[in-house]
Amino acid sequence: MIKDKEEYIFQATSRYFAQTQRGVSEIAAEELKELGADQCKPAYNGVYFSADDEVLYKLNYMIKTVSRILAPLVSFTVHNEKELYKKCFNIDWESFMSAEKTFAISSSVSNSKITHSRFAALRVKDAIADRFREKFNTRPNVDTDEPDIPINLNIRNNFCTISYDTSGKSLHKRGYRINAVSAPLHETLAAAILRISEWDGSVPLYDPLSGSGTILSEAFLRYGNRPSSVKERTFGFFNMPGFKKNLWQEVKKKCDNEIREIEEGLISGSDIDKINVKAARQNMNEIRGGEIVNIIKKDFREIESIENSMIISNLPYGQRLGNEEEAGKLYKEFGDFLKHNCKGSKAFLLCGSTELVKKIGLRTSRKIQLFNGPIETRLIELDLY
Ligand SMILES: C[S@@+](CC[C@H](N)C(=O)[O-])C[C@H]1O[C@@H](n2cnc3c(N)ncnc32)[C@H](O)[C@@H]1O
Repeated sequence: MIKDKEEYIFQATSRYFAQTQRGVSEIAAEELKELGADQCKPAYNGVYFSADDEVLYKLNYMIKTVSRILAPLVSFTVHNEKELYKKCFNIDWESFMSAEKTFAISSSVSNSKITHSRFAALRVKDAIADRFREKFNTRPNVDTDEPDIPINLNIRNNFCTISYDTSGKSLHKRGYRINAVSAPLHETLAAAILRISEWDGSVPLYDPLSGSGTILSEAFLRYGNRPSSVKERTFGFFNMPGFKKNLWQEVKKKCDNEIREIEEGLISGSDIDKINVKAARQNMNEIRGGEIVNIIKKDFREIESIENSMIISNLPYGQRLGNEEEAGKLYKEFGDFLKHNCKGSKAFLLCGSTELVKKIGLRTSRKIQLFNGPIETRLIELDLY
């Protein structure tokens, strides 16, 4: 058995790993700290941190900038699939799962002799199934949608960590996105941008290119102190060894008591495309109280003014929507609009290439490199006088 002193790594150390989008680990570390995590250490695509059970439950329920929270079970060096299978076969999976429970394995592999993450995950699945068959003559089934036992496999520099995924389904699945447009912003990235903007509700927030409304939805969740999922959901930690159901219910109740109502006019947006506006409207309606967010069909060039406000927008990148030339024209026109019609406001714009940023023609106070999935983007901050 690979367990150390009969304890899994997270039990012995109270250390966890919060997975994030590339480029937002520092921002996520701030949010983790705010929600009670300790000793946060940002890494390449996530944050290592310490937490007790109460904080772990609260994080899963509330955190907006993180995709998954992993509890490391065991780790070992590994150089080929055969070795991976053998080492995984020797883990006593039956100490926290049974043949009646379903399981799934998410995986990532980098800079290692094992190169295929899916194939690696299959070997681990085989090891689990074979061990159960050998011991109990039966095996647990795989359920990739709603597994009872979500396992994560990470191999980096030939070092493998097998973790219990305390989140289960990725935390970016908020439950409000019933309709997406062709280039939606990743929910956790929108949440990170809102944190960077430090918008605190003292001025209205407006997104004049709101698409399916991700920025508006995330602003609503953040300012309203709402849980990251708008629907009841099952978390991975419900089936984790040592799960304390009463503590979880207390944590949930405490968080729900902190929900703040939002007044009309504080968060609103518009978009030129009526299909996108309809999608944003439908998504917003999935959030309780979200109907008060006003989203209308309007070309930003026809908006009279957005003064003394926080403007947060995700401009087309040019590569996914339309071409660079068209995008360049839009960036220039949007820059002119900000300059002439948005006095006293602050803007945070998620943009494509640096060439496109230049087309805006305004001095930026800050530029931050961020990734929307695989797409490299820049977040710029503009103070509009
Ligand atoms: C990158 S998308 C925004 C995606 C959005 N953040 C989301 O998560 O769904 C850019 C949006 O700008 C809108 N747009 C393009 N030109 C516009 C204009 N002149 N006025 C208003 N909206 C415009 C598009 O319809 C599109 O929805």
